[in-house]
Amino acid sequence: MATKKVGTRTLAAMKARGEKIVALTAYDHPSARILDACGVDIVLVGDSAANVVLGYDSTLPVTMEEMLVLVAAVARGAQRAMVVADLPFMSYQVSTAQALENAGRFVKTAGAEAVKLEGGRRSSPAVEAIVAAGIPVMGHLGLTPQSHLAFGGFRVQGREEAAADALVDDALALEAAGAFAVVLEGMPWTLAQRISERLRIPTIGIGAGERCDGQILVLHDMLGYGEGGLTFVKRFAEIERDVSGAVTRYCEDVRAGRFPAEEHRFAPGNPKPRARGRGRDEAGG
Ligand code: KIV
Repeated sequence: MATKKVGTRTLAAMKARGEKIVALTAYDHPSARILDACGVDIVLVGDSAANVVLGYDSTLPVTMEEMLVLVAAVARGAQRAMVVADLPFMSYQVSTAQALENAGRFVKTAGAEAVKLEGGRRSSPAVEAIVAAGIPVMGHLGLTPQSHLAFGGFRVQGREEAAADALVDDALALEAAGAFAVVLEGMPWTLAQRISERLRIPTIGIGAGERCDGQILVLHDMLGYGEGGLTFVKRFAEIERDVSGAVTRYCEDVRAGRFPAEEHRFAPGNPKPRARGRGRDEAGG
């Protein structure tokens, strides 16, 4: 029997039941498969790919073309989780037509089931147009990394009353425009709670406290793969240390002639050796 997909109705029902939504980022096929098998509800192909897999020093340079490859790989790995593709900087700000076209590319050519974009009232016309075309949209408010130049750095947003009120208005505007959920990033937990209580749609927090309807983290941050030190991240593994250990042992084994060993080589006449590739062998081969 085919696995049921998480969709916008599933997520709305989870909020109504007070059930927490679990989201993580992923950028490749094996990670998507693992997250999916572990029961993650939303897999976001975030533009954080710019930092954590492509080596840029901010999210600003990543392009639609780069994101399309990653989104397609993730979409092929997620049977149950909803796959959300992050619209990169300057792929939706120029015009509503541009936003619609790029959202459509993620769904039509890469297999995403929803898109995410940053900004509140200023992004609402784009949200409305994309939703009207049948593509679910997730909003993103607070410390939105694509605006770090305008913010003067990666600063927590909404600490002052006027700024907090403006973020509540932004969240309400996204809901009115048809967004199915909103990511709340880098804001006081009390503000995230206020927004979560005002909205009918779910809020997904990152650095926004525990009162959101769900949580998201960047996969590499929670796995300890890459630079650490973010206050709001809990590290659930130390992958960088484990990978370094494995690679060091591999280097030692190759240099010492311990790898490949007898069991890793093909002998002449060996029946059915398992060679490269994971596809099916030709019949009669
Ligand atoms: O790009 C990203 O990974 C994100 C999440 C942190 C929400 O936008």
